[in-house]
Amino acid sequence: MSRLTAIVTGASEGLGKSLALELASRQIDLVLVSLPASGLPELANFIRKNFGVEVIIFEADLTLTESYSTLFALLKSESITAHILVNNAGLGNWAWFEDMSIGFYKKQIELNTIAPVLLTHLFLAQIDEERRAYLLNVGSLAGRFVVPKKQVYGATKSFISYFTRCLQLEMDRANISISLLSPGGINTKPELLVMNHNLTGIAKATITEPDRVAYEAIHGMFLGKKKIIPGGVNKLMVVLNAILPGFIKDMIIRSKLKPVVKM
Ligand SMILES: NC(=O)c1ccc[n+]([C@@H]2O[C@H](COP(=O)([O-])OP(=O)(O)OC[C@H]3O[C@@H](n4cnc5c(N)ncnc54)[C@H](OP(=O)(O)O)[C@@H]3O)[C@@H](O)[C@H]2O)c1
Repeated sequence: MSRLTAIVTGASEGLGKSLALELASRQIDLVLVSLPASGLPELANFIRKNFGVEVIIFEADLTLTESYSTLFALLKSESITAHILVNNAGLGNWAWFEDMSIGFYKKQIELNTIAPVLLTHLFLAQIDEERRAYLLNVGSLAGRFVVPKKQVYGATKSFISYFTRCLQLEMDRANISISLLSPGGINTKPELLVMNHNLTGIAKATITEPDRVAYEAIHGMFLGKKKIIPGGVNKLMVVLNAILPGFIKDMIIRSKLKPVVKM
């Protein structure tokens, strides 16, 4: 049987790059998607050389609607069927609502919500019914907890969570496995590394490394797990979030964020 092919969005760096490497290490061919000039050709060469899989790159801005159909038209023209879609590309931030521009929020909402929904639609339309297909949507624990300074980002991740859970119910009998990955903080780039380094206690214990998250995500996806939460402390946080009354959670958040939150 021919190898599986996976589309990974936001593959040039951070978690997306780790997910691409994890898939390649399992002998899965790749379609890597990221913004132009983000180093995709070099990454593709590295993967081809070290893992011996086929790699296609697609450099495009996923906030542009035409990019989704162009991607799938390209795959069709090359007679490639994607068996796996990893909706990873996303734009995070940590700022007071008034401090970011309208343009920033528009881009964040488009990349974090519209792109995964429309890519999923096009992906499902081309899957081979004879083979199992996999959809991995990258959410965040920020979509479960109410965190000041993550107001729009967290809302987009709640959207992804709802969307994924609904699809899981709608497509329960189909030959497709749909997983929601909800990581806590990940050390994906220098500024996050610095910020995470300054955390203490439980907050620090929730931070994970991208390679570890990628391993748990792909492992869980192939096991058909519906929810994947990397890290023991993060799993515990989700349980606590479900059982603690709202006013206690608000008190905890306020006390933890006292040095930075406007009260
Ligand atoms: N880091 C965390 O703490 C954390 C925690 C929970 C969940 N997540 C989620 O994990 C995912 C990856 O996060 P990350 O921290 O790895 O992000 P990242 O390091 O900023 O990487 C984002 C990727 O998306 C690409 N990208 C950005 N804008 C794009 C656009 N308009 N069109 C196409 N590609 C675009 C970037 O390309 P360029 O290289 O060209 O910019 C990059 O490859 C996101 O969905 C995020 O919400 C992250």
